[in-house]
Amino acid sequence: MCRSLFWIFLLSLLCSFARNNKIRPAVVDEQLLWVSGQAGEVNTYRIPLLTFTPRGSLLAFAEARKMSFKDTGAKFIALKRSTDRGATWSPTSFIVDDGSMADGLNLGSVLVDEENGSVILIYTVCFHHYHCKRSNTMMIESLDDGYTWSAPLVCGHGTVAGDGVFCILSDDHGETWRYGAELKSIPYDQPKKDLDFDPDECQPVELNDGRIMVNIRNNKNYHCHCRMVACSLDGGESLPVEKLVFDHTLEDPAVAASALEKDGVLFFSNPASQQSRVNLTLRWSLNHGKSWVKNTLKIWPGPSGYSCLASLKMNKTEDNRYIYVIFEKGNREYYESIALVKVDLYSDQ
Ligand SMILES: *[C@@H]1O[C@H](CO)[C@@H](O)[C@H](O)[C@H]1NC(C)=O
Ligand SMILES: *[C@@H]1O[C@H](CO)[C@@H](O)[C@H](O)[C@H]1NC(C)=O
Ligand SMILES: *[C@@H]1O[C@H](CO)[C@@H](O)[C@H](O)[C@H]1NC(C)=O
Repeated sequence: MCRSLFWIFLLSLLCSFARNNKIRPAVVDEQLLWVSGQAGEVNTYRIPLLTFTPRGSLLAFAEARKMSFKDTGAKFIALKRSTDRGATWSPTSFIVDDGSMADGLNLGSVLVDEENGSVILIYTVCFHHYHCKRSNTMMIESLDDGYTWSAPLVCGHGTVAGDGVFCILSDDHGETWRYGAELKSIPYDQPKKDLDFDPDECQPVELNDGRIMVNIRNNKNYHCHCRMVACSLDGGESLPVEKLVFDHTLEDPAVAASALEKDGVLFFSNPASQQSRVNLTLRWSLNHGKSWVKNTLKIWPGPSGYSCLASLKMNKTEDNRYIYVIFEKGNREYYESIALVKVDLYSDQ
């Protein structure tokens, strides 16, 4: 279940429970799912998302940018599926094609409705108002484990008025959506300067005590070159600014990062650097993010950008052991490829 672009999506999550603090993560498998700049219609793959499905598959998504590496421009949404815990992946299918839009689609978030088994993908079009006026938030839904997808539905007009983190909430399995909590930028809806308060791409995590923790990109490095963390005690209706925390351990170059709670352990991935997008690192916390275990797992020391964490939960023996990290990886630029690693959490057992 993964983050991104300025919203939080809330659906029920299974609760987990504290289990084991002998975590010793190690990468046991790595694959490149997409490589940019190859023959065909795609110039650059970026913005990876990863999710489990209720039937135990993994779905990997990315923006397939047709003409250039830029955030604007026309794109496909690329999908690969794995039904064997990440060992092999299907060929790419392009599940959405925005044609030749000047300001085409941008991936937002993927979420799983565990009550009824559907997978929902949220994205935007015309996010940057580049040669277009109205932004739309779109969703597509799969009821069959990611094989087929609904036609795009508009689930909101406008994206974000003036920067910040905004929740959209659904209490009816994605039929209808409304706005929930917001954490607005300062100065709001005005051009930003360095060191302004500019909460950007975020990752919500439902903790096992019911709190929703939101780990946020601190886009202009307000107060620190590190992550901001907000918390909702009312199911995403509010994100009190009084409770906002700057997590100095989570140094960050202003990027979309990922978090995941599994069996009471909170995991976090980002390019762990204050200056640049390098050093893709996995951290873990045994106390819901109050502090982080000193040991870390460096997944890739070179250029690395956006990342997303997921884990399966069908088979307790097998799936309790592993988490998966999808991330932008390169040798010279972080957007050269999209890699997926499988991490064994108990590598010494
Ligand atoms: C889940 O709920 C949504 C919204 O009510 C509905 O469209 C969808 O068909 C449901 N999924 C399944 C697998 O029944
Ligand atoms: C990457 O990590 C290494 C140590 O593991 C550190 O020496 C280096 O400064 C980091 N790079 C950046 C740009 O932060
Ligand atoms: C669960 O995983 C274990 C370890 O790989 C395997 O031996 C077992 O058969 C699996 N059980 C089921 C029900 O798939």
